[in-house]
Amino acid sequence: MSSAPFQIVPLDAALDRTTFSCGAEPLNRYLREQVSQDTRRRVAACFVALAEGQRIAGYYTLASTSIRLTDLPASTGKKLPRYPTVPAVRMGRLAVDQAFKGRGLGGALLADALTRAVRSEIAAFALVVDAKDETAAAFYRHHGFLALPDATLTLFLPLASVLKLAKPG
Ligand SMILES: CC(C)(COP(=O)(O)OP(=O)(O)OC[C@H]1O[C@@H](n2cnc3c(N)ncnc32)[C@H](O)[C@@H]1OP(=O)(O)O)[C@@H](O)C(=O)NCCC(=O)NCCS
Repeated sequence: MSSAPFQIVPLDAALDRTTFSCGAEPLNRYLREQVSQDTRRRVAACFVALAEGQRIAGYYTLASTSIRLTDLPASTGKKLPRYPTVPAVRMGRLAVDQAFKGRGLGGALLADALTRAVRSEIAAFALVVDAKDETAAAFYRHHGFLALPDATLTLFLPLASVLKLAKPG
């Protein structure tokens, strides 16, 4: 994952959310109209990448979720305790403004989300994402995510594998 010269911070109500344009209108509309309510109600946390001049260049959201053990690939599920579900963190949305695409920002936002999930004191087995289409799913697969066998647009990355990457040596 490449990094980019952006500052990634929790969304602040004072930021201008009206000009953000990622090419997917539902993701623009969510940032414009819905995200403040979701963060206020604590159903999602939103983090934004700020370019120079406090312009929002990208954003993502995180929330708690769970994955049914039976939905995971058998090879993953067999290594986990026999609970009905395992805890996870869901990245509900991820988007980069068209003006900033292809410069490593999507990867940097993903790395930031993984870092926050790993750092949390609340245990989570994986970061889970819902890709909006096959192109988005390919982006996540490129970064090591695995699809659920019966829902190929839902992908997960075990956080233990991120911790291994972060360990020196
Ligand atoms: C998907 C999206 C977030 C990628 O952001 P980006 O800033 O353009 O991507 P990056 O420049 O960080 O790319 C990082 C890496 O992913 C790769 N990549 C980017 N899009 C990819 C795709 N669709 N499939 C496979 N790989 C992809 C890049 O080649 C790059 O590889 P490298 O690190 O080996 O050089 C962005 O295109 C976007 O906002 N799309 C519209 C909304 C969307 O689809 N969101 C996804 C969640 S539903």
